[in-house]
Amino acid sequence: MDTIDPMDYVNELAPANAQERARQAFISAARRHIMVDLSEDLSQEYASLAAPQWLEEHGRPPADSHEVRRAMLQRPLFNAFSSLRYNAQEMVWDSVMDQIERNLDGLNTTARRLRSKQCGSLTLDADLPIPRDVSAMDIHLMPGCWHEEHTPDDTAQGALFELGSNVFGGGLKFARRGSVAYSIAHYLLDIFPDFRPRRILDLGASIGTNTLPYAELFPDAEVYALDVAAPQLRHGHARATAAGLPVHFVQQNAEATDFEDGSFDLVVSSYFFHELSVKSTQRVLRECHRLLAPGGLTVHMELPDAGQVDPYYNFYLDWDAYYNNEPHYAAFRRQDPTDLLRTAGFDAERLLITRIPNYSASDPAEFAAIVRGEKATPAHGNGASWCLFGAWR
Ligand SMILES: C[S@@+](CC[C@H](N)C(=O)[O-])C[C@H]1O[C@@H](n2cnc3c(N)ncnc32)[C@H](O)[C@@H]1O
Repeated sequence: MDTIDPMDYVNELAPANAQERARQAFISAARRHIMVDLSEDLSQEYASLAAPQWLEEHGRPPADSHEVRRAMLQRPLFNAFSSLRYNAQEMVWDSVMDQIERNLDGLNTTARRLRSKQCGSLTLDADLPIPRDVSAMDIHLMPGCWHEEHTPDDTAQGALFELGSNVFGGGLKFARRGSVAYSIAHYLLDIFPDFRPRRILDLGASIGTNTLPYAELFPDAEVYALDVAAPQLRHGHARATAAGLPVHFVQQNAEATDFEDGSFDLVVSSYFFHELSVKSTQRVLRECHRLLAPGGLTVHMELPDAGQVDPYYNFYLDWDAYYNNEPHYAAFRRQDPTDLLRTAGFDAERLLITRIPNYSASDPAEFAAIVRGEKATPAHGNGASWCLFGAWR
């Protein structure tokens, strides 16, 4: 088999029919309209109507995200925005499910066949307890969440995440999947050219979308993708193998892995911590500290913490906590990354907290100029830039 771009894995092996393609394109365009055009209207509505009205009633502007929310709940536009965004989120998953169900036997069989190739590995643990953070609800309204299994050797939830992500981001700047990892890897190569990690671990990797770019850009490294959810890992291993990228997919809990102390030079994650409780966040960061070899780096892409942004953007980012089954989203953002890293044992002098542009949405020369500090980083939002927090060991 020729190699397959991981982003196109399901569509190559189990193509959508014309109706499904049309439905998926419609949802991507609707999401673009909601997340770009309506979201811009919403911020104007706040500036021109909701904030002045609050000022008139209280003699001061809204002080925090909760007050902005109280002001915005009065605005019909916010309620329309929320309804549309909520329904579009459900339709993202609905728009790809028939395609997966129709082709599931073939996808599972191909994943099994690819396992016999000598390319990376897949190590599952059927006895691993699924943490409440994952099992309690369908995170971001994805039916079955990360971990549910319907048939033996099931890859359905992994395929659902792959195809759903394509539809979800199809109209936005992060449409190039894996752009977080491409951005972090290029940032490291540009700014720390002597840092050549030999062992890399991605925590909460799901299907490895943001793991594979490390295998591509650091081809001499041994790369691990860790997650609790077996269907994500089965599907992830299949698409990595189909792309010719040797990655070791392991089913473990990031709070307490079985790797030895100091066994990695680079420990990364993307979109992971906001799905963890405050307690789990602390345990995972302590595990990062334990796993890093001297001179190693841990770096995580996450939402901006509440201290970095104004009350309106805090309110806007908290939307997912209220309407998108993201129960830890808001509490995660109320933690200070500096405190978190210091509490986990990292040296306050060796922290790495920054925002970098999306490599996939910028010209490489411009990307390099921005990360060198010669140009401003694009504002956060819709994949224009990524907030990073981490530390050197
Ligand atoms: C939002 S997804 C991460 C997406 C992925 N990193 C990416 O960039 O595409 C969060 C993942 O974390 C996993 N997860 C949640 N809690 C975990 C834990 N304690 N240990 C390992 N994985 C966990 C979930 O199963 C899920 O696959």
